[in-house]
Amino acid sequence: MTAGLSRTPLSGADWFAVEFDPARREVVMLDQRLLPMEVEYRRYRKPDEVAQAIREMVIRGAPAIGVAAAYALAMVARDELGDAKMFLVANGTAGRILNGTRPTAVNLAWSIARMSRRAGEVCELAPEARYQGMLDEAEAMHREDVEACRAMGALGAAEVPDGAVILTHCNAGALATGGYGTALGVIRSAHAQGKGIRVLADETRPYLQGARLTAWELHQDGIPVEVITDSMAGHFFQKGEIQFVVVGSDRIAANSDVANKIGTYPLAVLANQHEVPFTVAAPWSTVDVRARSGADIPIEERSRDEVASIGDTMLVADGIPCRHPAFDITPARLVDAIYTERGIIRPKIGERPDVLRG
Ligand code: MRU
Repeated sequence: MTAGLSRTPLSGADWFAVEFDPARREVVMLDQRLLPMEVEYRRYRKPDEVAQAIREMVIRGAPAIGVAAAYALAMVARDELGDAKMFLVANGTAGRILNGTRPTAVNLAWSIARMSRRAGEVCELAPEARYQGMLDEAEAMHREDVEACRAMGALGAAEVPDGAVILTHCNAGALATGGYGTALGVIRSAHAQGKGIRVLADETRPYLQGARLTAWELHQDGIPVEVITDSMAGHFFQKGEIQFVVVGSDRIAANSDVANKIGTYPLAVLANQHEVPFTVAAPWSTVDVRARSGADIPIEERSRDEVASIGDTMLVADGIPCRHPAFDITPARLVDAIYTERGIIRPKIGERPDVLRG
């Protein structure tokens, strides 16, 4: 499973969702559509191809697609050799295409806005220096994302009880970030501290990120994991087999409502019913203070085929419509803690340290 990178990955692990190869000046991404059956890296040379890869779920997970978009914009700078105006137009056009690929994950818009600010700063430089300035920014973003995951992982792990069985949903791991993971960062950190934790991974219908990605990722690191179908969660709560829930997020509103993979909200309801902590781990780039509540967060609608089939097997007869909201909103009142690199928000009791305001 070699990616043939010309340097040590910034993710800090031997396998990763996205990296930049500076020698060949191109993006390298693990094709997550093929996991866990095949571990195959693909190389992307054109910004449009990165946008297409995000749309087609080669790469997914809110922070990871933000990092991929940043590298795509560095490639725009690599290719646009015209004057400042031409460079800014090319950057803006690519940014709009990238931004249109996944509407719920705000990290994408956040990353494009940050890269566009950098584009404004470097636009008058010679093309090579401009490219280097954009690449430096994308790499800084990538490194900061990994550091943020490690910081929130340590904060969350401190609250995980010894010997806990932890339920997680979708994939909020190294595969969904620049590296290490948000929810799986909490799990990795608790495991590294010797807490003797075990993980229940929801399969996460319809796209099965839990079964295909989370289980694979934890297994790679030797963290005990068992896969359950989404419908089994209530049974295990009822039997007292779950002591902690941690999930990632694609966007957190100013009032701490949390958008995450469809199926997260029912887990929060179950966790509250059974008095089990329901927690979220996310970098500050996931917080969208312009969204006043979850009602302001756009919910992506994906293709019918993801619900109507599994792989090549059709489950629903032709002509029957399916619904497919890809995310749901968990109200702040159900969330015990949000771990961020800046500190912990405790929405249920209305605690939000001053440093985390605005
Ligand atoms: O549709 P996906 O696979 O991009 O959805 C991903 C999730 O919902 C993750 O839980 C979320 O992005 C958090 S990633 C650290």
